[in-house]
Amino acid sequence: MQILTGKQTATYATHSYSREDWQRGYNSLKEEFDYWIEDVDGKVPSDLCGTLFRNGPGLLDINGERLHHPFDGDGMICAISFKNGRAHFRNRFVRTEGYCQEQKAGRILYRGVFGTQKPGGWLANAFDFRLKNIANTHVIYWGGKLLALWEAAEPYRLDPSTLDTLGPDDLDGLLKPGDGFAAHPRIDPGCDRNGGQPCLVNFSIKPGLSSRFTIYEFNSMGKLVRQYSQVVPGFAFIHDFAITPHYCIFLQNPVSFNPLPYALGFCSAGQCITFQPDQPTRIVLIPRQAGIEGRQLGEPAKIFEVASGFVFHHVNAFEQGNQLTVDSICYASLPSVEPDADYRQTDFEALSPGQLWRFQLNLETGEIQRQLVESRCCEFPSVHPSKVGQPYRYAYLAAAHAPQGNAPNQAILKVDLKSDDRQLWSAAPRGYVGEPVFVPRSSGAEDEGWLLTLVFDASCDRSYLAILDASNLNQGPIARLYLKHHVPYGLHGSFTPQCFVESQVSGLLNCDLEG
Ligand code: CO
Repeated sequence: MQILTGKQTATYATHSYSREDWQRGYNSLKEEFDYWIEDVDGKVPSDLCGTLFRNGPGLLDINGERLHHPFDGDGMICAISFKNGRAHFRNRFVRTEGYCQEQKAGRILYRGVFGTQKPGGWLANAFDFRLKNIANTHVIYWGGKLLALWEAAEPYRLDPSTLDTLGPDDLDGLLKPGDGFAAHPRIDPGCDRNGGQPCLVNFSIKPGLSSRFTIYEFNSMGKLVRQYSQVVPGFAFIHDFAITPHYCIFLQNPVSFNPLPYALGFCSAGQCITFQPDQPTRIVLIPRQAGIEGRQLGEPAKIFEVASGFVFHHVNAFEQGNQLTVDSICYASLPSVEPDADYRQTDFEALSPGQLWRFQLNLETGEIQRQLVESRCCEFPSVHPSKVGQPYRYAYLAAAHAPQGNAPNQAILKVDLKSDDRQLWSAAPRGYVGEPVFVPRSSGAEDEGWLLTLVFDASCDRSYLAILDASNLNQGPIARLYLKHHVPYGLHGSFTPQCFVESQVSGLLNCDLEG
């Protein structure tokens, strides 16, 4: 943890951050780069091998016209490849149809879900229901495909070596035009319906007065092996889910949706969603099906009600006998994106922090217990990949520097769910962290591995990749890999042991084969 000293104590006397510093992490990155990272503090572990892919909004403006919210920004993929103690950086925009059109036109042509409007006021926006697929939320390498995900539309496929956009991908005809595909797939590490092989589980939701949840399960070749649906009462605004060997778990946030102002051009679709604090959250368990294929309904969902606030992300879930546990980041309320507000002027203290809660469901009696596990403001949870859906001990999160209150993420927090111990590394006062991605080191202890996170360093307006030893966060990064530029705050990423960068010696490398 950094100690505040001298001049910094004066500047950051009341907070661990300054809003001016934080804002600059939301400048667009318009250039695309391709280089070996030479500016390294510390040492890149020689046994860290593979590629970190990361997605997030790269453009926060179109030719100087500012977007209303970062979630409306065009997706930009970063790939950081590790081999033999060296690291290579590359970033490319996902060349979606909308990105190409707007870059050619040099102006905003589409309304965004989170408040971006076309210039010209409500008349210019009324009754324009076209959706711009911005492919900006997550990126996964599965079944030989690199896919950039955005929940309201189909994925975009990219070349994992060059990050060239290959085009929208309908997953071998699975997705029809207009179908969504969530940005939060979960990888079941050892699915017993797949002979113990891993499978990727994802969902899509068609919201309405009642909402249709469809679950897709893919084997490691990327082939669809199971698909089943369930209709659940009420409107569903759901970003993430969790899995166990027998269930897909959703928290159906208490919101209402009034599309009229959107239709009339006054605001975006996302701004028509209103949090209903007096309503309970529904926990929806959809049983995972053994052999169903096609679009038929599966076994009925089990629905529980609980007071929980609003949830974007889950840490994990697991079953023990009749008890199912879900760990989630909960907010007391959903901050609304006001049409005339500027996100860069966010008053952090006026908002409720995300906090880690544990829900324990008795599947026989329907009883629920909930418990606050961590009150420090936190987000972007990550766990060991072999513990997904299984009882687990460690959660890793991006968190605030201070133990109380709402603030930007400046620290990486490790929560030991068994001993209740904590470890923390803070990049404050001038560093702002992103999602920590856990990379296992071997088949050893659950925390034997590294955490990779991109940090925006406001002291030099550049970003660095921090490599942390997950078994000892308190000691700080074992390496900081400084990029030549900043990378705007991102959303989600994933690690694959394959290394796609060309080395001077042997062309494409595969760590699995060579490592
Ligand atoms: Co997310």
